[in-house]
Amino acid sequence: MTTHKELTIGLFGFGIVGEGLYKILQQTPSLKATIKKVCIKNPDKKRDAPASLFTTDRNELLFDDEINVIVEVINESQAAYEIISTALKNGKQAVSSSKKMIAEHMHDLIALQEETGNSFLYEASACASIPVIRNLEEYYDNDLLHSIKAIVNGSTNFILTKIFEEQLEFKEALLLAQQLGFAEYDPSLDVEGYDAVNKWSILLTHAYGIIEKIENIIFTGIQNIQLSDALVAKEKKYSIKLVADAKKLQNGKVAAYVLPQFVRQEDQLAFVKNEYNGVVIETGFADKQFFYGKGAGSFPTASAVLADISALSYDYKYEYKKFYRKEPHELGNDFFLRVYVSFEDWKYVPREKFEWIEEWHSQEERKYLIGAISFQELKKNNWWQQNNTSLILSPDPIIEDVEIRKLKKKSLELAGII
Ligand SMILES: NC(=O)c1ccc[n+]([C@@H]2O[C@H](COP(=O)([O-])OP(=O)(O)OC[C@H]3O[C@@H](n4cnc5c(N)ncnc54)[C@H](OP(=O)(O)O)[C@@H]3O)[C@@H](O)[C@H]2O)c1
Repeated sequence: MTTHKELTIGLFGFGIVGEGLYKILQQTPSLKATIKKVCIKNPDKKRDAPASLFTTDRNELLFDDEINVIVEVINESQAAYEIISTALKNGKQAVSSSKKMIAEHMHDLIALQEETGNSFLYEASACASIPVIRNLEEYYDNDLLHSIKAIVNGSTNFILTKIFEEQLEFKEALLLAQQLGFAEYDPSLDVEGYDAVNKWSILLTHAYGIIEKIENIIFTGIQNIQLSDALVAKEKKYSIKLVADAKKLQNGKVAAYVLPQFVRQEDQLAFVKNEYNGVVIETGFADKQFFYGKGAGSFPTASAVLADISALSYDYKYEYKKFYRKEPHELGNDFFLRVYVSFEDWKYVPREKFEWIEEWHSQEERKYLIGAISFQELKKNNWWQQNNTSLILSPDPIIEDVEIRKLKKKSLELAGII
């Protein structure tokens, strides 16, 4: 029989997630876990908990022998890394929700767990309440994971939903998201895709064993999406989502990026609206599975932190099996993408770089084309992010190297060129 350890927690952060966790733990007496001390930044803030619980001295938690678990839910990534690494070195288990910190330091964090034998769990960092990391670790632990695509950022999904369903302009939708608390006062981390790519880099580690700095993953946010793009999508019976995508290519490498995408009505991701997140996993024999849930918020995020704390009570650890395997996967660049590009002037779009262009609309004030382009071109040059140009992937956008010639010939035939 598994024995569940008593856990004495040192909590860092008492904001949206930290206070949520404090309240949830009070309602979960069956989990033998108590918060001994909370470290925060500002000692003068009013808190809805006894004053004796709080300190601003991190060492009171990190060097307390009675505390065996450090839970870090703060919003400063350098301090978060110092806290987690010290905790692990001091013989404590650790839990975190700080995606930026985890994405930046994945290599070191794995090495620290190996060196110290202590466990570090971070389910809340990827899709908040959706248990995707542990499923990728435990259930999808073999070679059969064909693809994983996801909506991992609730703020941008909220904004896109409003642009789409209520025909709001981007700025109006952003303001509404801020008023409702779904977007930060400085929304650039969400809107420009940084939050999503940090989460994607964490999920790539657990899905495929790939550890890659975000600088090496192609990503953008929704900052250039126009109302006219939403109207084109609607005409084609698509919606627009910021999709984090990863797919195993025939050459064994993994195609991965975070880009806006046209999504068909029948696609599971079309069902994910407002501040929700969703993950679609496709495997060799099971076809598709769909995870759906809240990607942010106090209790939803704290519930994932609680699940990690609970897992520590029976010494659960991530094993990083896919990272440690003999020949780990790596990112691939040899593929093509079907894209829609809208722009203000033809001079901003290098038409000669496209493998083919199957639709072009140059009469409208906002011009657009649909065609195929190599991923390498998007990686090398950034014209597609400049001058208010908006790039959106077509549904099922990936075309493998081996297919491109066949398709190119067919598209030229259709266009009446050959
Ligand atoms: N909010 C969500 O829905 C959500 C979802 C998933 C993941 N996350 C991640 O979870 C983390 C926390 O998010 P949050 O929304 O709860 O943030 P938040 O509401 O801004 O709260 C941050 C907390 O951290 C404390 N803090 C900041 N720097 C500190 C330091 N150096 N030492 C000790 N305490 C410090 C702050 O102290 P004061 O109270 O004194 O200011 C505050 O209590 C972030 O990494 C975020 O990305 C959040």
